[in-house]
Amino acid sequence: MTLSSVIDQENVRRRRPPAPVPREAPLSRLGLAIALYQNPLTIWTRRQFEDPIVQGEGLLGFGTVINDPIGVRRVLVENAENYRKDALQKRVLSPGLGDGLLTAEGEAWRVARRTLAPLFTPRQTAAFADRMLGAIEARLARLARRRARSIVRIDQHMTGLTFDVLAETLFSNSIPGGAEEFGNAITLYFNTLGRLHPFDLLGLPDWLPRLGRGEAGPALAFFAEQVEAIVTARRALMTERPGDVPRDILTLLLEAADPETGRGLTEREVAANIVTFIGAGHETTANTLTWALFLVQTDPRVRERLETEVDAAFAGSLPALEILERLPFTRAVVEETLRLYPPVPSLSREAIEDDMVLGKTVPKGSLVIIAPWILHRHRRLWSGPDLFQPERFLPAHRDAIDRYQFIPFGAGPRVCIGAGFAMQEAVLGLASIIRRFRLRVAPGHEVRPVHRVTLRPDGGLPMILEHRAGLPESRGPSMRP
Ligand code: HEM
Repeated sequence: MTLSSVIDQENVRRRRPPAPVPREAPLSRLGLAIALYQNPLTIWTRRQFEDPIVQGEGLLGFGTVINDPIGVRRVLVENAENYRKDALQKRVLSPGLGDGLLTAEGEAWRVARRTLAPLFTPRQTAAFADRMLGAIEARLARLARRRARSIVRIDQHMTGLTFDVLAETLFSNSIPGGAEEFGNAITLYFNTLGRLHPFDLLGLPDWLPRLGRGEAGPALAFFAEQVEAIVTARRALMTERPGDVPRDILTLLLEAADPETGRGLTEREVAANIVTFIGAGHETTANTLTWALFLVQTDPRVRERLETEVDAAFAGSLPALEILERLPFTRAVVEETLRLYPPVPSLSREAIEDDMVLGKTVPKGSLVIIAPWILHRHRRLWSGPDLFQPERFLPAHRDAIDRYQFIPFGAGPRVCIGAGFAMQEAVLGLASIIRRFRLRVAPGHEVRPVHRVTLRPDGGLPMILEHRAGLPESRGPSMRP
């Protein structure tokens, strides 16, 4: 048998996880507006997945899509100063995240980034590991009360889980109005704002009402009020009972100072960054876990290897950081998930001046798209680009992957500030779930990726829950309570 036929059989065995098939030809203007509203993943053509750079007229004028590591490095790193976040992205995100790090630009962004950097150093993130695991275990203990073979909306449980981790690490769970209501307000807010409205895409003016946008108003107001109350209560605690102040991100934010000027953040900036961390870190990590659980159940060999690793890592009740060191395959599964279903499937920028990228002119004022969705499945860069193969991220093979061909967290000065935090949370989260449960997609449910602000399974992900402790073949150690 030849090597290629072995690989072919392997490919058949590992079914191709769902993804829209690239189009042969670009869509018309109207077709594009509709597809962008319904699911932007469906607009890409086969050429994008085969060529390093594709230029042409789009809905928003001339655009360049860069699908090559050298081009990505040019835009996001070497000449990052020449690119700013584009107007459409700001229109979608700014209503909630206005003064936060994600949407800031220029000098305001530079000051904010250097002020906030100490909050997310590897050391600081590691210091949160036990609290993260505590929040994850508490949430899973609730899920464990479900009867064997119940159907659970695993996407919703993952949203709950990442919210619990954020509530614990951001403000030690001190939410005056109740965590549940706060969580619901966040979800409604991001769901409504998260959709690209066709009027925005067609460049229609702001005063024309966008149907559906109004729904976010009350949620936004409730959300803003709650965050303000949390910040005010903490400020008071810091003055009245400094000995009782928890060392969480909120305290770090209130103590943070620009290392160059010594200036601290205003209350408004503190609140905006809390909202930003929730907005940027909540759904993205929840989607990573949801997709990982979907992918794991497509391949029994991956599931078995994961179960063996996780059972061994959790035996002995070690601290979270030591457990993490024992999870290289779990980490590889998370990275392969981020490759196939990057929670942020495309990044966009506007060129400030003309630039040359991969031998082509990127004109001043034009749109540049760097899409992890395309880059992570590019035919020239990956073998088996559409297949789920976590082994490619194991330490022995990792070096073969260029830094700029795998960019789930972006790259350069605006790289995700929470990348280490998110990886730590996703690896601990996936390991804890695999330790307790075995999950498979509910029969008859078709899984289809859809791009809102993040990449999600359309209509959620119902899964059948089995308790591993109750499965006859389970070799796992006894579960901790
Ligand atoms: C799997 C989870 C996550 C993914 C895939 C992700 C992805 C990204 C990406 C791609 C960017 C860059 C956007 C661009 O260049 O246009 C970004 C920026 C950012 N992310 Fe994340 N993120 C995740 C989790 C988090 C978490 C947990 C936090 C905070 C707690 C966070 C906070 C931020 C912030 C504040 C920025 C803006 C940074 C800046 O502009 O200086 N993210 N994220």
